[in-house]
Amino acid sequence: MSNSDRVVLALGGTGTVGSGIVKALLDRGFRVVVVSRDSKRLEKLKSFVSPSSSGNLITLKGNVGSEEEVEQVKQAVVEAVGKVTDIVSSLGFSWWQGGPPHTQTLKELHWVLETLVLSTFVSWKAFFPLVRDDPRGTYTFITGGAGDKLLMPGTGFLTVGAASALAFCQVLREEYPEVPCKFNQVTINAGVTVPDRMAPGYLNHLDLGETVAALVERRSSSHAVFTLECASDLKAILLEGNM
Ligand SMILES: NC(=O)c1ccc[n+]([C@@H]2O[C@H](COP(=O)([O-])OP(=O)(O)OC[C@H]3O[C@@H](n4cnc5c(N)ncnc54)[C@H](OP(=O)(O)O)[C@@H]3O)[C@@H](O)[C@H]2O)c1
Repeated sequence: MSNSDRVVLALGGTGTVGSGIVKALLDRGFRVVVVSRDSKRLEKLKSFVSPSSSGNLITLKGNVGSEEEVEQVKQAVVEAVGKVTDIVSSLGFSWWQGGPPHTQTLKELHWVLETLVLSTFVSWKAFFPLVRDDPRGTYTFITGGAGDKLLMPGTGFLTVGAASALAFCQVLREEYPEVPCKFNQVTINAGVTVPDRMAPGYLNHLDLGETVAALVERRSSSHAVFTLECASDLKAILLEGNM
């Protein structure tokens, strides 16, 4: 099956991380569906991707973090593209530094968990059946390294959310070891940003997108975990695929 026959559902495709992935997937010839709660972000994404491949980008407005709304989104996705072959999930937010736990509210912790892990669970539960039985299918989760430690003072809830997202990915690998569709977990132990905001310790979202698109293209015969610390890790994964 060539890339042009594959349809990737990119959850979080309007985000910093997701937009780089969407552009790279389109550049490799995939058709890509992106769902966002915000029409303006979808318009911005359309003008960001390469003009030559924008015809393969399908955008839909919707909320994939709500159990009720995700079913409507799923129906709209299937109506728009027929079959989905691969899913990339980069739901969440870029950064949180609201302060130490004693200064925080339960509402804030709910919001962090909802955005980082509950939306990941709700959308996985709805969309995984679309790809589950396809041995050529992939489901890729983008996660952050903040789950391992407190990155700096005041980022505690980010650690709680990121750790939950990492644990969820691990649970999926262990609960479904033999499922035909393979899970990729891409854990990024660095910041990710756009080219004109690059600084030490950050990955360019375009380079990250290239690497994630290569992983989707390559497929895998088993569930896999990839840890990215710096730009050379991105190159190493790309080179591995060329060998
Ligand atoms: N940026 C970094 O420095 C960095 C570093 C390491 C790891 N990561 C990981 O990468 C992931 C994404 O980060 P990011 O920087 O790309 O964040 P971002 O720019 O804030 O984008 C988040 C994306 O998630 C989507 N989203 C969240 N909840 C949703 C829902 N209920 N329904 C539909 N879409 C929803 C947003 O869509 P809308 O258009 O609807 O808002 C947006 O596309 C996070 O899990 C983060 O842990 C990021």
